[in-house]
Amino acid sequence: MTAGANRRRFLGAAAVTACGTIIGLATGAGWSRLGQPGTLLRSRCPLPPTFRSPLPIPPILRPSRVTADTDYYEITQHLAEVSILPGFITTAWTYAGSFPGPTLVSRAGRRTVVRHINRLPHPVVVHLHGGHTPHDSDGYPLDLIAPAAAMPGTAAMPGVTTIGYRDYVYPLRQPAATLWYHDHRMGFTGPGVWYGLAGFHLIHDEIEDALPLPRGHRDIPLMITDRAFTADGQLLYPLSDRALRTPGTTPAYRDGVLGDIILVNGAPWPVLPVDRARYRLRLLNASNARRYRLRLDPPPLGGGGLVQIGSDGGLLDHPITHDDLPIAPAERFDVVVDFHRYPPGARVQLTNTLGSDATARIMRFDIATGPAPTDDTRIPHTLAAPHTLDPAGARTTRTFAFQSYPGGWRINGCLYQPGTDIARPRLGDTEIWRFTTDFHHPIHTHLGQFRILTRDDRPPRPSDHGWKDTIDLGPAETAEIAVRFTDYPGRYLLHCHNLEHEDMGMMADFTTI
Ligand code: C2O
Ligand code: CU
Ligand code: CU
Repeated sequence: MTAGANRRRFLGAAAVTACGTIIGLATGAGWSRLGQPGTLLRSRCPLPPTFRSPLPIPPILRPSRVTADTDYYEITQHLAEVSILPGFITTAWTYAGSFPGPTLVSRAGRRTVVRHINRLPHPVVVHLHGGHTPHDSDGYPLDLIAPAAAMPGTAAMPGVTTIGYRDYVYPLRQPAATLWYHDHRMGFTGPGVWYGLAGFHLIHDEIEDALPLPRGHRDIPLMITDRAFTADGQLLYPLSDRALRTPGTTPAYRDGVLGDIILVNGAPWPVLPVDRARYRLRLLNASNARRYRLRLDPPPLGGGGLVQIGSDGGLLDHPITHDDLPIAPAERFDVVVDFHRYPPGARVQLTNTLGSDATARIMRFDIATGPAPTDDTRIPHTLAAPHTLDPAGARTTRTFAFQSYPGGWRINGCLYQPGTDIARPRLGDTEIWRFTTDFHHPIHTHLGQFRILTRDDRPPRPSDHGWKDTIDLGPAETAEIAVRFTDYPGRYLLHCHNLEHEDMGMMADFTTI
């Protein structure tokens, strides 16, 4: 079946219930304020032991060509046999053969062109999450890269399908930040990411270069995901249609798919040996639905073990000290941990206080014995320039209600209808967007980073500071953000980053004008 048929299914479902502004729909009905948005899918193989696998570091991708102003990369997407669980070989959907995919490292303002070649047996779409990207390279969910074996025409769709490969052009006029790239195919982002299509894309700039922060082998990206596996060690996902024609999960998993095995950089509950020195940890929650509350166990004497230096969109203006950090799907927290605060030989777990049993553990840091190395890094009081996005200048306020309906998840009463705009913000204008929820929804905007202003009319959480592209909202919560889209006119997306919600309708187009 073609993507066109998928769309007709969406539209068919949307036609059943009229799409419009919903007034008086009870929020939070039937939902409790539970920590976990989803249903646990249990692995059918024995759980691997904790703290045995070494932490893998995804390979850094070398450019295939470098010119005066552009770095060119090539990534072939293909099925590959990867080793995730000890004793098993797992077939994954991969970027260039690995899970996570290779890490791209770019300079701010330097054009990066990534050619994605699709050798998977189905269409894909690549989105650079957090990227300030022109529309035609943003990974609109119907801008498919069809496998080279030609697909039937999709001319009636509001997307541009290419055959075999596509060149994504990223100007990267944005500050140093931890971005990630992942599949964004309409209706199938959940399985796409679950089966392996996710990787880091880091941006560096001069402001960051000038700071005495940990770098090199003490600057470590950590992609946290939960997964479930079959009895023979294959990735298990509750597809509603094994042929991948109808989007979504089986009804039991519509709230979100939670795995029972925690992977960091593709290894179960791994271990990283560390020196008694400062490390920069770039935390990414790349799980489909699971939220975590991360904590060091034991905490260092005096607490404040996680010193946040960056958020989704880049460095904070000042560091913020946390004992624990809630992290929803797609969020990034850039933290510095000073292992010198622990005695030699200490073993420090990164734990998840929202988990139970094995999902309460993430990974372990094993601190070296022997004398501490010299460490001339510091966390300066001033990191980046203060974030200027003044809500006082906003002339437009828009409200978006994220709610569950029979048959799907909707924004303002609508299932995703590609080609229909929910908003048409003017480039350069500051706007206030108000989000309301009935359940956990990590809400994400493409193109622009935003600032969180309030939650339920109260000040935001300590972890809400800095530039954000994803906000972790709980059941029956209202938040206001200030957002300003700049530079690129075109069609972008507002959606829930619980990938099951996204695939089952909780997404909307907006067009910048
Ligand atoms: Cu990370 Cu539109 O998504
Ligand atoms: Cu995004
Ligand atoms: Cu959601």
